[in-house]
Amino acid sequence: MTASPSPRRPIVGGNWKMNLGRAEARALILTLRQRLDGLDGVDVVVCPPAPWLTDAFDLLSGSSVHVGAQNTHWEPSGAFTGEVSAPMLSGVAEYVIVGHSERRWAGETGAETNRKLRTALAAGLKPILAVGERLQESRAGRTESVLHLQVNQALRGFTELPPSLVLAYEPVWAIGTGEAADPDVAQQRCAMVRGMLAERFGVLAAATVRIQYGGSVTPTNIAGYAAQPDIDGALVGGASLDPEAFTAICRAVAAEGSR
Ligand code: 13P
Repeated sequence: MTASPSPRRPIVGGNWKMNLGRAEARALILTLRQRLDGLDGVDVVVCPPAPWLTDAFDLLSGSSVHVGAQNTHWEPSGAFTGEVSAPMLSGVAEYVIVGHSERRWAGETGAETNRKLRTALAAGLKPILAVGERLQESRAGRTESVLHLQVNQALRGFTELPPSLVLAYEPVWAIGTGEAADPDVAQQRCAMVRGMLAERFGVLAAATVRIQYGGSVTPTNIAGYAAQPDIDGALVGGASLDPEAFTAICRAVAAEGSR
């Protein structure tokens, strides 16, 4: 199913999670702009915490580095104290992560992920849909059924695969643990997800969707993922807080794409 060379432009996201104060965030954004603006062959997305999105938007404006949010509410507006909606985010961000496992642990359901995807798309945001199995599910041989459920719940009611949708395969056991998935395993799982999308939306649509790998990605291991035919970049947590490391990861993915 995967054409060679890949028709898909790789995408690397930096998910800062709940880290960095404002001054540190602004400094990191400026450093990333200096190092990554104009980098060919990869889309780079920086996803700071919500209060720093406006800073990111301002400081990155006119550069090729994109801004992403880490979450959205599923309603466009209303009495939801403390929440941030997709139409609000669309003023300062282009992408939004939806269904991250750290939010699923906090109680987000598949139905909520589905609503978030819809509201994000309606607001013109490009969703990065995260899926991934937990350690006990992997050990029990349930990875495929878990991924199938997550993909189908998130895309319930969709008759077409949204062209702007990005997926991120992030095995929960690899997130923040230093236990990155073996590149062959990550490839097999990303191909599995692509196969699920092909079943639902057709081979052609599935062949165009970008699927990232996420989970303890570092400058040292990125090349192994970037070389895989069904892995189109990475969603990076811890290493995205280090400008050297994040730059090296983005450059490695860009270099692989241009080979
Ligand atoms: P780490 O790179 O810190 O493992 O985090 C991955 C992640 O959760 C990205 O969304």
